[in-house]
Amino acid sequence: MRFLVSCPFGLSKLVNNELQYLGLTPHHSFETWVYVDGDFRDMMRVNLWSRIANKVYLEAAFGPCFDFDALFALVQTVDWKNYVNPGQNIVVTVHSKWSKLESTRTIQAITNKAVYKQISPNGTWPMDPKKETLDIFVMIIDNRASIFINSSWAPLHQRGYRIQTGDAPLKENLAAALVVLSRWKYGSPFWDPFCGSGTLAIEAALLARNIAPGLKRTFAYQQWNNLDKELYLKIKTEAKNKQYKDKKYQILCSDSDEKILEIAKTNAEQAWVDDTISFTKHDILSPLLPYELNDLTIVSNPPYGKRLNESNLENIYTHLISHIQNSNWGWFITSYKECERNLPKEWRKKKLFNGADEVMFYFR
Ligand SMILES: C[S@@+](CC[C@H](N)C(=O)[O-])C[C@H]1O[C@@H](n2cnc3c(N)ncnc32)[C@H](O)[C@@H]1O
Repeated sequence: MRFLVSCPFGLSKLVNNELQYLGLTPHHSFETWVYVDGDFRDMMRVNLWSRIANKVYLEAAFGPCFDFDALFALVQTVDWKNYVNPGQNIVVTVHSKWSKLESTRTIQAITNKAVYKQISPNGTWPMDPKKETLDIFVMIIDNRASIFINSSWAPLHQRGYRIQTGDAPLKENLAAALVVLSRWKYGSPFWDPFCGSGTLAIEAALLARNIAPGLKRTFAYQQWNNLDKELYLKIKTEAKNKQYKDKKYQILCSDSDEKILEIAKTNAEQAWVDDTISFTKHDILSPLLPYELNDLTIVSNPPYGKRLNESNLENIYTHLISHIQNSNWGWFITSYKECERNLPKEWRKKKLFNGADEVMFYFR
């Protein structure tokens, strides 16, 4: 079986590494997805363990597709009763490139028709709005179509631990990617001086303690009719047993706003890592530092403006950059590109996206 693992723009290399770490061999990747072969067990493990992927799709059918009859026939080769339950609504998304079939609406309509004709030959399929949808993704490239089924449901960054956030939270999978990119060594101290709802520190703690990020959530495949439910429980238990019990990491997180720190603590509790992170109220403009800088890895997401005036922002970035210059490693992500005025020449940058928002990741 083949799977398509989607991810935020620019992070497919990290997903590739994660898949290899799980013992799989990805065979080709693009900016926002990676193809990998495996079985249902692998699909469950990737959903449970990937920190960076958005969704895991099962390729249920693949074939040439020059006209709508071929598309209809291809969709009908899938045994849909394995994947769809009575009352579930079906949502089809489409990506078509360099192909004769271009109209998204018609591709959606034909796919829907082919599925419903198979699962409801008498034409009745009462919808239950309380049920999760079955998400089908039709990708046609160069007149070859793949019919994918979303095995994840909600994107995997929705881990289930973030009860509340501040104004501009990072997506959990982007935060995890930043921690990985920072090359932080788990034995050394880690500091997020603008922690907000705590996402970066929580993802750092989950990584350091080898806690599978999907342990708190459910997945679409749990509703499929062709899956071994015992296997899912076994994989979850295996994951729980792989957690490191040692909690003595130096993961430090601070913010000038006391209320947001309380939210960060609650989120960390929900993620089972509140005992692995230290929380401190601290203003970056303060002359006193809460930690020794020399062995620190700083990874952060400073404010970028909506509520702060330009001179305040400039001041904040000047302090942050100077702390990073004096620490071991330093990285920050922001959409405030004016900060480049104060960046030393040797710093580099990488373009990423937090959802639809373009952001820059600066590092030295
Ligand atoms: C973009 S948010 C961080 C969001 C966080 N990454 C998350 O996922 O929730 C920036 C944070 O910087 C904090 N902040 C603003 N000015 C600060 C200062 N002078 N010192 C420390 N923290 C500050 C804000 O309270 C806010 O929580």
